[in-house]
Amino acid sequence: MTRRQRDVVVVTGASSGIGRATARRFARQGAQLVICARSDAALQTVAKECRDLGGQVLVVPADVSDESAMVGLADAAVAAFGRIDVWVGNAGVFAYGTFEQLPSDVFRQVIETNLMGQIHGARAVLPHFRRQGAGSLVLVGSLYSRASSPTISPYVTSKYATLGFAESLRQELRGSGIRVHLVLPASIDTPIYQHAANFTGRLVRPLPPVSSAGRVARAIARAPGRRRFVTFVGRTQKAALLVHDFAPGLHGSAARWLMKHVELHGRAPSASTGNVFESTGSAGQVSGGWRAIGLRLLLAAAGAAVLLRRLSR
Ligand SMILES: NC(=O)c1ccc[n+]([C@@H]2O[C@H](COP(=O)([O-])OP(=O)(O)OC[C@H]3O[C@@H](n4cnc5c(N)ncnc54)[C@H](OP(=O)(O)O)[C@@H]3O)[C@@H](O)[C@H]2O)c1
Repeated sequence: MTRRQRDVVVVTGASSGIGRATARRFARQGAQLVICARSDAALQTVAKECRDLGGQVLVVPADVSDESAMVGLADAAVAAFGRIDVWVGNAGVFAYGTFEQLPSDVFRQVIETNLMGQIHGARAVLPHFRRQGAGSLVLVGSLYSRASSPTISPYVTSKYATLGFAESLRQELRGSGIRVHLVLPASIDTPIYQHAANFTGRLVRPLPPVSSAGRVARAIARAPGRRRFVTFVGRTQKAALLVHDFAPGLHGSAARWLMKHVELHGRAPSASTGNVFESTGSAGQVSGGWRAIGLRLLLAAAGAAVLLRRLSR
């Protein structure tokens, strides 16, 4: 067994999507896993999956926005397995609506989960990493850590701030043996869009093309062995960063158009706070079923482009 195979790995937001794919990936490597989310029932399903794949698993239901719960999570991991090698800060929630549509408590809770959850996690695990003289903190941000979009301002705010926090912490920890890594996924096929709060009056879907959660899990699992600070997942959308940095006006117009005409569609029956305040409680899936839809949207866009060219001749 190699050193990585015996690693003790904590994964927050492990009951669904990227976190669930990450837990499974580490389980296949024989890791000693500590999995966290708010729903115990959903975590038990993931724990069984991971044990079947060869991992040892401790389930700790906890809310990442509760600082003392994160200290409890780190302490439980050390009590069970003696140390922590990798902490994956992954739990996150999404909320759609303009700044004026979104209730203030929804805005605040997105920040509490996506940003303060990462900060509480870092504060809880660092004393253990210091004692060990080593450890890897892998934080999941987003392409929205580097470029914005309208109608998701709390999410963008939380993800930009996560990048700032990670950069600053990394600078402080240089030479300590503790590494900080940031994984920035673009659109990923997970149930986060079904789980999202939505005050727009319209249905939501991810901006295509969407990548699989497995690709993000691979980037997360590889991060501790690498010197690289930032890893992007989703090459096509990463290219949009060039537009954001060098033609911000054009990026702003494109982001607005895409949100209005692609990401939002149809009519939503009613406003919803989704899983922002409470877990849906069900065992989530890794996939949100968006890849086929993304492909159909791309094909439709290509077809429309061909038709427009023909008509303009
Ligand atoms: N999917 C994408 O397109 C995409 C793109 C870029 C970045 N990301 C980031 O990737 C991460 C994972 O997202 P995902 O797409 O896998 O979403 P997901 O399928 O909705 O899973 C979210 C996970 O976080 C947990 N969670 C939510 N709030 C929590 C809280 N307060 N305390 C503890 N656990 C909590 C959920 O379980 P409970 O509800 O049971 O707690 C669930 O396990 C997030 O940080 C997200 O921002 C996603």
